[in-house]
Amino acid sequence: RRPALITFMKALILAGGMGTRLRPLTLSTPKPLLPLLDRPMVMHIIDSLPAEVDTVVLAVSYMKDLLEGYFLKHDCGRKVVLVNEEEPLGTGGAVRNVRQYLDGTFLCFNGDIISSLDLNDMLAFHRRHGGIGTLALWRVQDPSAFGVVGLEGARITVFQEKPAPGEAISDLINAGVYVFEPELLEHIPPGVVSLERQVFPNVLDRGLYGYRFDGHWVDCGTPAGYLEAQRALLERGRTKVAPAIVRGSELIGPNYIDGASLSGCRVGPFVCALPGASIGEGSTVEGSVLMEGATIGRGCTVRACLLGPGTMVKDGSALQGRALAPLRGRQAGLH
Ligand code: GDD
Ligand code: MG
Repeated sequence: RRPALITFMKALILAGGMGTRLRPLTLSTPKPLLPLLDRPMVMHIIDSLPAEVDTVVLAVSYMKDLLEGYFLKHDCGRKVVLVNEEEPLGTGGAVRNVRQYLDGTFLCFNGDIISSLDLNDMLAFHRRHGGIGTLALWRVQDPSAFGVVGLEGARITVFQEKPAPGEAISDLINAGVYVFEPELLEHIPPGVVSLERQVFPNVLDRGLYGYRFDGHWVDCGTPAGYLEAQRALLERGRTKVAPAIVRGSELIGPNYIDGASLSGCRVGPFVCALPGASIGEGSTVEGSVLMEGATIGRGCTVRACLLGPGTMVKDGSALQGRALAPLRGRQAGLH
């Protein structure tokens, strides 16, 4: 029996998308396992969960074997349940598909969000308002790539998923972090269902509330978002300077350099270089990630690039805003 005063809670992470906007990186590594500094993207979410969350349910589909492999090897201090969808069921279908693992009020996350959200405060807000669900909200300049809400006080009165440019009714977007009551499950029909397009607009009258927060928020699902998330973490002090070899190089912080070799190069700010990566003589690298074993030759300029594991940038190259496919068979984020 559980002690009377301790409540346990479940968190659901939607992690079955194909990560198409991060191809070619996501052709060999599922988006939730792509490394953001020292750990896979999804671990940033898991590590931010309140202590009362004892079980993490991951709704998976695309490359589920790699996710399973990761969680078999890495103990994240909580029970982890992976629930597979043979065919992706959409964000709503994915929630319905795990209903047997949910009991009371639960947290739900898009698996590609990095934020400073205080989940305990959001839970308290949800309990105060007593609705069927609470959505974290974030203000952006161009809301057209997101879900947009209209509010009356704290109550959401309109939900528009990815409105056409100029049609958004506000600049407040769905940040992809939710608190839901189990009653929400009754509003998700079987099959492929979008939470945002088919469920939220139908439950507004059951009380859907918007919780706003400060700090930072990034959707890492695009190359620009991925690098912005890396930058946000570095700006908040998640830095490291532990090169394997450093010969006459200039480091302009903040950076995260872990076991990479640097010779006669200029690195930073906002560079992440993971074990086995290397940067050669006379190269300049800024705002980029070098995954495990990625190599930049001599005399290169690399800016705003995502270099997959084992990739090679030839001597004298100038690259900007590129994502390079990993060497065949290499996966990222599994260290
Ligand atoms: N299990 C499962 N099955 N997961 C899925 C599926 C599916 O069929 N489809 C998508 N997901 C997961 C993705 O892996 C991701 O973690 C999350 O659901 C959201 O999907 P994205 O593809 O990243 O959606 P988005 O970024 O275009 O839009 C969503 O996020 C925005 C905030 O970043 C929406 O929720 C928007 O309303 C929101 O503003
Ligand atoms: Mg996304």
